[in-house]
Amino acid sequence: MKQRTDFLVIGSGIAGLSFALKVAEHGTVTIITKSNEEESNTKYAQGGIAAVLYEGDSHEKHVEDTLIAGAGLCDEHIVRIVVEEGTERVKELIALGANFDKKPGGEYDLAREGGHSENRILHYKDTTGYEIERALLAKVHNHKNITVYDHYFSIDIITQHHLGQVVTSQTPNIACYGAYVLNTRTGKIETILAKTTVMATGGAGHVYATTTNPVIATGDGIAMVYRAKGHVRDMEFMQFHPTSLYNPNEHPSFLISEAVRGFGAVLRTIDGKEFMSNYDKRESLAPRDIVARAIDTEMKIRGEDFVYLDCRHLDRKGFIEHFPNIYNKCMSVGIDPFKSMIPVVPAAHYLCGGIVTDENANTTIQHLYAVGECAGTGLHGANRLASNSLLEAVVFAHRAAIAAIENNRQSGFNEEIPDWNAEGTDYPEEMILITQSKKEVQQIMSNYVGIVRSELRLKKAFDRLEILYNENEALYEKTTISPRLCELRNLICIGYLIIKHAMRRKESVGLHYMAKFGK
Ligand code: FAD
Ligand code: SIN
Repeated sequence: MKQRTDFLVIGSGIAGLSFALKVAEHGTVTIITKSNEEESNTKYAQGGIAAVLYEGDSHEKHVEDTLIAGAGLCDEHIVRIVVEEGTERVKELIALGANFDKKPGGEYDLAREGGHSENRILHYKDTTGYEIERALLAKVHNHKNITVYDHYFSIDIITQHHLGQVVTSQTPNIACYGAYVLNTRTGKIETILAKTTVMATGGAGHVYATTTNPVIATGDGIAMVYRAKGHVRDMEFMQFHPTSLYNPNEHPSFLISEAVRGFGAVLRTIDGKEFMSNYDKRESLAPRDIVARAIDTEMKIRGEDFVYLDCRHLDRKGFIEHFPNIYNKCMSVGIDPFKSMIPVVPAAHYLCGGIVTDENANTTIQHLYAVGECAGTGLHGANRLASNSLLEAVVFAHRAAIAAIENNRQSGFNEEIPDWNAEGTDYPEEMILITQSKKEVQQIMSNYVGIVRSELRLKKAFDRLEILYNENEALYEKTTISPRLCELRNLICIGYLIIKHAMRRKESVGLHYMAKFGK
């Protein structure tokens, strides 16, 4: 079964929805998304969106903070684009209906997060992402040219490979003609032909055993593009958020926003000692890589499973007003933050690398754009500055839209594309083959390729992942397609890319920290 659309958007987070709204006057837009339409990393964003709004702050300061966090590996040209254009894009978000908290005088109430030299984080309580997603979806629902298909899982993008041609990463002019997608309600695989395809599939936190990301974050878009021989970059830079709630039976992990430390909370060891001053003069508000590594070091030295975040000295009323979601969550698990300290651990949170894109969100594959967390724009370098990712998504959704409208003036549908061929496949006899392998990938990555790595750990991880890769490719060849099978395949690919890039990088920088032991 074939469908045709001018713009195919894969993913319904901030990046995909923003892009869709920007191109909708220029043709038909189809958004496909693998879960409920609002389910995304966007929905769970807490702290907010960084933007320079008032005098006292400046684009130059925001650029500087981003470059410092990125440990020398940011692309400064891209940083300037995001910071300078970001102010306008945030005003657009406000104009389309996203609410951000204001002070009694009517000015926006800007919060502070790690690595920022100014208060510049716009937020809606501690549920900023939920509010942005709500506002964007409301606009999308009202646009006659946009159709959202939820519970549609993108399996692979379509290129010349599907016309029987040999395509390698060196093949010039690889082109994208749309995607093969599984309608998970009917079990049918459909062909969606598109003049422009946009990858907006978000992150890959679930390649690790402990993550703040919702279950959709399995790196599908990056894996699809890599399989199609598109280029990816900076995959070794997985950001671990320093403070997820330590609650061993809860997956994914609940985030305790960095804005709580911006509000004055202090990290302490289990015996109550403040320790961040031993690691960095910015203490609990140092950039994330430094704080996460310090916590990891303290936990390893002391043989303990968590550290504490101390909020007991903070203003109770102000805290509850700013962080109602975090307060309610803590209370629901029996922690009153004003009586007890909150146990926290680092958790995989944000993938700084991804699909290589240029300043207009073009990938290395024609007619294919990538926006949001799945893209590797060069903004974050070796470590993302807090609250820069929602900003990056809106800036590049805008730029991609301008480029894609132009692309569609010149491109058409490729009518030669065959439908998906499921011959020779059958339902798996046992799902355990898939679920066990997924756990193994997550364990390998957490134990060997986490906050601290070493040459020996990377080599061990590579060898073990190769076994899983070979097993899973054999299974994939003969098994009826399902999201779980595809996600496992994608996670193995993401793990492989993280390890490969980490092995190439060797020296410690930013989020990629190599210990000297274990050679
Ligand atoms: P997402 O919002 O993750 O959307 C991806 C979409 O793609 C989803 O709809 C998903 O279902 C869909 N999808 C994925 N694979 C497929 C497939 N195979 N087929 C079809 N659909 C698919 N950043 C900030 O700047 N500020 C913050 O305060 C902040 N807080 C955060 C808090 C948490 C708990 C988390 C997890 C992240 C936070 N981040 C924050 C990061 C930020 O939320 C994300 O980087 C950003 O929302 C990514 O947006 P996106 O549109 O690229 O992807
Ligand atoms: C947080 O609220 O701490 C998350 C902010 C981010 O990931 O940018």
